[in-house]
Amino acid sequence: MFSFYAPARIRFGEGCRRELPAFLKKRGTRGMLVLSRSLTSFGEELISDCRREGLEVSLFVTERGEPTLASVESCADAARCAGAEFLAALGGGSCLDTVKAAAGLAAESFPLRDYLEGVGIGRKLQAEPLPWVALPTTAGTGAEVTKNAVIACPEEGWKKSFRDERLYAAGVFLDPELMTGVPPRVTAESGMDALTQLLEALISRKSTPMTRDLALAGLRYAAVLPRVWAEGSDLRLRGQMALAALYSGLALANGGLGAVHGFAAALGSRFGIPHGRACAVFLPHILRVNLPACRPALEEAARILTGRSDPEALIEWIESLNRTFGIPEDLRFLGLSGAEAEQLVAAAHGNAFSGNPLELEDKAWLAEIRKLL
Ligand SMILES: [Fe+2]
Repeated sequence: MFSFYAPARIRFGEGCRRELPAFLKKRGTRGMLVLSRSLTSFGEELISDCRREGLEVSLFVTERGEPTLASVESCADAARCAGAEFLAALGGGSCLDTVKAAAGLAAESFPLRDYLEGVGIGRKLQAEPLPWVALPTTAGTGAEVTKNAVIACPEEGWKKSFRDERLYAAGVFLDPELMTGVPPRVTAESGMDALTQLLEALISRKSTPMTRDLALAGLRYAAVLPRVWAEGSDLRLRGQMALAALYSGLALANGGLGAVHGFAAALGSRFGIPHGRACAVFLPHILRVNLPACRPALEEAARILTGRSDPEALIEWIESLNRTFGIPEDLRFLGLSGAEAEQLVAAAHGNAFSGNPLELEDKAWLAEIRKLL
């Protein structure tokens, strides 16, 4: 028995962003478009399209980096001040998560922290969130189809989820044209995030037949990652990678993740390592550790990505991608102390980690992490 949740509408295709105003018009007349600073030309185009349709749309530019308590609260405040009836997010996973969280918070009167897993007080949303629309500009996190926003607190060294089944986007416009300007480093790191999510969702102990099928289909698309990194202006490749990320989001939201995401979150929040890069560093090592618990699934993934049904070929393929992308092969570049490694293991536990197919004592995880120092 299993359930499957997803946004009510996912629209895919080149130029589909131009349908946004007609979609928004059904949800109100006044809204706010949120974008990151580098996307002003697409933002201007969307705003003028919306205004032409008679919509009153204000603009909010997000801060750089992952959503924080302060950045989400200021976005929610701006939505309240603008009297927004809907929000639209144009950007990468951080921008999407900022808007997702702000959509939930806008009608509430308590601080965001109260609602967060692990550090909050277990407060639940009372009001209906604002409807929000996702226009992803990177192919990675799958944040357009998940019901949780990951909030980072660099001062206290944690990343925690704001999760509610009502936080799904009202609509997703997945337009490969929005992705052609993404620089190679971001293409590589967000692509490694999507690849990690597909592989972890495939072997997650919380997976379902539907999420495993999605993960396998997503891996077929993700095979283009080295090509899309080298030929970023190719719309067909961008579209395939966008679908890989979309499927990874659908699979992880309904089937869980694993230890790579647990360690990546811990590394990201304590040392500021970008999420996709952190996933890529851990992925080959953790797959080798997990192999005894999920060999048949990794054989299938290996067949898709390398043409050989040997999990070691899959892991070597990932290691060679990392070398191509200039991603470190271990954690030596951080110069972690033994005590910091212990903290990393302790901080890795959480929602993502609990899907890992292999259960190990912390002592055993620490021994694995020490091999990377
Ligand atoms: Fe991820």
